[in-house]
Amino acid sequence: MDDLLKLVENSKEEIKSFSSTEKNPAEAFRIRFLGTKGLIKSLMGEMKNISAENRKQMGLVLNDLKLLAEKKHEELVMMNAKGQPLIDKALDLTLPGDTLPLGSRHPISIVRNRIVSIFQRLGFGVAEGPEIEDDWHNFTALNLPENHPARDMQDTFYVSQNPAWMLRTHTSNVQVREMEKGKLPIRIICPGRVYRNETISARAHCFFHQVEGLYIANNVSFADLKQTLYFFVNEMFGEKIKIRFRPSYFPFTEPSAEMDISCLICGGEGCNVCKHTGWVEILGCGMVHPNVLENCRIDSNQYSGFAFGMGIERITMLKYQIKDLRLFSENDLRFLKQFTSAV
Ligand code: DAH
Repeated sequence: MDDLLKLVENSKEEIKSFSSTEKNPAEAFRIRFLGTKGLIKSLMGEMKNISAENRKQMGLVLNDLKLLAEKKHEELVMMNAKGQPLIDKALDLTLPGDTLPLGSRHPISIVRNRIVSIFQRLGFGVAEGPEIEDDWHNFTALNLPENHPARDMQDTFYVSQNPAWMLRTHTSNVQVREMEKGKLPIRIICPGRVYRNETISARAHCFFHQVEGLYIANNVSFADLKQTLYFFVNEMFGEKIKIRFRPSYFPFTEPSAEMDISCLICGGEGCNVCKHTGWVEILGCGMVHPNVLENCRIDSNQYSGFAFGMGIERITMLKYQIKDLRLFSENDLRFLKQFTSAV
């Protein structure tokens, strides 16, 4: 019995001063003292040699030893390999929690939503259509028959298994699809992604986004078009912006115009962005060509309409003074994070 008590005393000392250079000291401790082949188990095994009258006392002593070892093991579990506590600060529940990083909208989505909500206030509905399109809806119905020279400006990607299919070059295909439905009047805007076979640079990409608009009813005039676009520009860029229309050509509109706004960067004085003209182009527009109406089975003697189309990237670059179009599709968080507070 005395021998066993001595062993217990030694074990206590060993437990108290236990240290280990092992990677996991808690586990090393457990194996040494608490495991099935551990010291405490083997001391317990000695009980059979203890006389009946001393057995109870010895049991208590060994039980104490086991509790001591278990406590030490718990402490070791809370320490790292260097013997430092894993939680070095007391838990303070009054501190604010860790903040979760919140995502933000892409600048193209922010501007698209703005454009959509401005036109919705004028009573325009949103229409969408396919990005993979046939020749009729992307070109022919829009007064751009095969071999028309204006097709050169909109080279695109074709589906090799079926060359009749292509990626749409503008969202005007949605206008055609809406007109073909035959429900008049029509007052829609068509936001969406479009594709062109262009070399990628700071100013051009093989895909970008557009919002087009179409209004068809009785007696729609160019004055309606101008007033609608004035309202849009004032809402989008503020009331101080000046606007001008330049005559232009699109096969699907007659007459056609391009709309410029006074340069947001230099206020019209002349700078790199406006190429020293004081003006920047933001959209194309015009009165829907009678051929387009007839192609879509709308009586051009009874109905007239206007249409316009703008690139969302272009509006976004002007609004936020972004100089390189490629930033929109590179997913660089340093760029995207700058729009967290914009909605
Ligand atoms: N579809 C033209 C383009 O992508 C933009 C455009 C111009 C759309 C005039 C129109 C319009 O609806 O009337 O370059």
